[in-house]
Amino acid sequence: MLKLAVLVSGGGTNLQAILDAIDRGDIKNARVEVVISNNRDAFALERAKKHNIEAQCVSPRDYDDRGAFHLALLKTLDSYDVDLVVLAGFLVVIPQEMIDKYRNRIINIHPSLIPSFCGTGYYGLKVHEGVLARGVRVTGATVHFVDEGTDTGPIILQKAVEVHNGDTPEILQRRVMEQAEWVILPRAIDLIANDKVSVEEGRVVIA
Ligand code: GAR
Repeated sequence: MLKLAVLVSGGGTNLQAILDAIDRGDIKNARVEVVISNNRDAFALERAKKHNIEAQCVSPRDYDDRGAFHLALLKTLDSYDVDLVVLAGFLVVIPQEMIDKYRNRIINIHPSLIPSFCGTGYYGLKVHEGVLARGVRVTGATVHFVDEGTDTGPIILQKAVEVHNGDTPEILQRRVMEQAEWVILPRAIDLIANDKVSVEEGRVVIA
């Protein structure tokens, strides 16, 4: 059984998609041990509690500096002894120690087709604003392993979504979530939990 930590900052609709997929049996051989948020008010924490899953908040506001926050985050994560860390809308730059310790064991969902509209400054609605400003016709979402760069790690799954005339960033965000994020994040976890994913020479191979 693959033990998961899900790290969140906000609404937690991707967390919900994971919990629902586990309940439906679409994700097999995995369970969520803990949900960790950097934001005390994240609705994702309520979703976890409702599901009888441990909900922890490690907020940078409670620490003197970034180093102390990073240490506390890593200590909390380590205490659950998980196999996979899922960044589901976690808007914190991952500390190097965590990347080293959990190499190829941290995945992230990003709301665009990487390498478009990703990297520093592209998160949440800003991604969809960028897509609409450029006028691309197709966007989507990507699940990837996390390395030291921003959105640069090996790509596991991607799914395309059409941009429609008249889309606002909010409407497009919702379509990308419904058609891509909530589909490929649970699917990637199921693949990993069932030993179908390996990383060879920096690229993902799916069995
Ligand atoms: C999602 O759209 C996710 O892809 C995005 O934040 C949103 C969180 O929503 N993540 C990033 O932009 C990471 N760079 P949720 O809390 O409802 O899952």
